[in-house]
Amino acid sequence: MPAKVVVIGSLNMDLVTRAPRLPRGGETLIGHTFATVSGGKGANQAVAAARLGAQVSMVGCVGSDAYGHELRDALLAEQIDCQAVSTVEDSSGVALIVVDDQSQNAIVIVAGANGALTPAVIDQFDAVLQAADVIICQLEVPDATVGHALKRGRALGKTVILNPAPASRPLPADWYANIDYLIPNESEASALTGLSVDSLASAEVAASQLLTAGAGKVIITLGAQGSLFADGQGFQHFPAPKVQAVDTTAAGDTFVGGFAAALASGRSEAEAIGFGQVAAALSVTRAGAQPSIPTLSDVQAFPAP
Ligand code: RIB
Repeated sequence: MPAKVVVIGSLNMDLVTRAPRLPRGGETLIGHTFATVSGGKGANQAVAAARLGAQVSMVGCVGSDAYGHELRDALLAEQIDCQAVSTVEDSSGVALIVVDDQSQNAIVIVAGANGALTPAVIDQFDAVLQAADVIICQLEVPDATVGHALKRGRALGKTVILNPAPASRPLPADWYANIDYLIPNESEASALTGLSVDSLASAEVAASQLLTAGAGKVIITLGAQGSLFADGQGFQHFPAPKVQAVDTTAAGDTFVGGFAAALASGRSEAEAIGFGQVAAALSVTRAGAQPSIPTLSDVQAFPAP
């Protein structure tokens, strides 16, 4: 039986423009291309976990619009269980994304239907959570829902992962005890700790602070520098595979989904981090959120370092 991963989070339609550079305030730029692409941090992580070997259920909300149908269909096409994806009377979540010629992006999200994922909806689908090996949450749905889901995951004895993205402030103090793996990137680690995180050394300081706050283990993703793993025993740096980046959108989501799928299947933490990093590296060589996420055979075919 494949391991079961449950993702509780957002589904967004990404409206993606490629442009020579990111616009400044008040400026109009001529873009190269435009595309609508299925995304949302929750849905991206669900797709990553499914393509990378897990049996996945998604818990989330879409709007009663055409995007809502497309977002659900994109998950169904990956054999993701969508019994807990509810359709609500609202617009689906959207993300306005600009990707520049250096493959940097800027994103504005509008939550729409994602805001309807309340603690009561989580309770309604408790059987889905009960069947999980690993539960993953992010921060594109209401805070009250994330806190509730983390607590329920802990009470059920599941492995609980929080990808605190996007983050603009510290997490509620009572969340930490319910998190087995906290996986921020550098800017999220800065927002959570108030520290400047821009190097391996500063990531170690931030990770220590997050462990002291109560997180079980911390993995700070560092883009092209790889990632830093921290637990009560010490730190371990995992260098990233070198690739030519085209679009970094959903690289973090691919890492989280891949890490969760590998961990749920019984791989060690070190193996799961290495696996997630190869998957994330492959994703940045392709454009878009869900279309960029590799399959298990893509990762297995990636040359070993
Ligand atoms: O992490 C990438 C995702 O962030 C995009 O797919 C977009 O929807 C935003 O949520």
